[in-house]
Amino acid sequence: MTDYKQSEQANSLWGGRFKGGVSDIMEKINASIDFDKVLYRQDIKGSIEHCKMLITKDIISEPDGEAILGGLAQIKKEIESGDFNFDVTLEDIHMNIEHRLSEIIGQAAGRLHTGRSRNDQVAVDFKLYVRDACDQADEALKGLQLALINVAKENADTIMPGFTHLQSAQPVTFGHHMLAYFEMFTRDRSRFADARKRLNECPLGAAALAGTSFAIDRQQTARALGFDRPTYNSMDSVADRDFALEFMAAASISAIHVSRLAEELVMWSCAQFNYISMSDSFTTGSSIMPQKRNPDAAELCRGKSGRIIGSLNSLLVTMKGLALTFSKDMQEDKEATFDAVETYALIIAALTGMIEDMKVNKEQMLASTNKGFITATDLADWIVRVLGLPFRKAHHITGSLVALAEKKGCDLDGLTLQEMQTIESLINDDVFNVLSVENSVASRVSYGGTAPSEVLKQVAVALKRVG
Ligand code: ARG
Repeated sequence: MTDYKQSEQANSLWGGRFKGGVSDIMEKINASIDFDKVLYRQDIKGSIEHCKMLITKDIISEPDGEAILGGLAQIKKEIESGDFNFDVTLEDIHMNIEHRLSEIIGQAAGRLHTGRSRNDQVAVDFKLYVRDACDQADEALKGLQLALINVAKENADTIMPGFTHLQSAQPVTFGHHMLAYFEMFTRDRSRFADARKRLNECPLGAAALAGTSFAIDRQQTARALGFDRPTYNSMDSVADRDFALEFMAAASISAIHVSRLAEELVMWSCAQFNYISMSDSFTTGSSIMPQKRNPDAAELCRGKSGRIIGSLNSLLVTMKGLALTFSKDMQEDKEATFDAVETYALIIAALTGMIEDMKVNKEQMLASTNKGFITATDLADWIVRVLGLPFRKAHHITGSLVALAEKKGCDLDGLTLQEMQTIESLINDDVFNVLSVENSVASRVSYGGTAPSEVLKQVAVALKRVG
């Protein structure tokens, strides 16, 4: 049999019915104070507005209300100066604060909880927290986007290989590549904005699940806390954690974008690519191999994306079987969400730092376009445009020319006109104009294409779109 200690004292908040205390194991499994103390600011803010509303509606007297407001202000100061004693036997942040309030102002503290329950209280606190997290994510992403735009502008005509299947495909500009990520982060920002808009209904006043018989004014508290309106249904109000899921879903998708760029930074900074160099700020050395400069920050951005996706999954699975309305399972929402919020902020900051910090090795990028017959599509397009042959035929001829160059051990522009004519007699001198990577990228002027002129236009548009 498990040997556990039993506390003697019944809980001060529901001790009317309970005579004995809880076992130490119960205390351990039940308590959330170690992590939900993060919510103290939101909890106090919610309580202040609830209290003001109770005063306005004459549900509590003004002297009691003033005492509560004064006590809450003092508690905030105590917490922020480190003078607050968080007590695990008081389970969570809500009960720790209420208990301390009763120590400061006595009996009147018991009136604060009129017309509300911890169920709507925790929902409103958590929503306020996630709403802030959406705003912070937006701000951080904006910073990252500005960093990307800067690099894009400076590298509008920096030529590099564009890849599909990680095989040289067509030459592109590095600026264009950076702006591809700008688009991903633009969509991420709109996902956070969308989540924020949907969450912005106030659950306070839903009480335990059914609403309350007190004549509360939910419009007043909703407005005071910056919500667009109160939630429509009291049961949904306390059972809903979609807002945390939506934040983590948006963060997970965004973390995948972070991870893909991080993977490219890892790849680009290795000696074989050498497309970029990273400074001491975001790399580490090896304890045994003196030549090494490891891109740890990029690797950790890639690695931590898994952790954010894990948090999303953790809460999805927690919620999936819960009958309405609140169940204690839902207390498991917090550690996952807090960790996702903090991890996400960290990887965006690290990625922004690396983008600002990296040195672009333009010559090396250009030099590596000399491999892989990267202008083959330009050649096929030229055969269509100038010789008037169908694209399928042009594709075939180009394939034969690639094979010939491969055999000769040169690139396409290393073939002589005579050699080309052995494959297709109509080919003329003009072909050499399209075989250079410079001409290739310059020709890609379709809207959203990789031509330097087009990238510069998109840089200007991006600067407006970033907000
Ligand atoms: N600590 C709880 C949580 O984090 C607060 C809500 C408790 N409600 C209840 N009926 N026990 O979700």
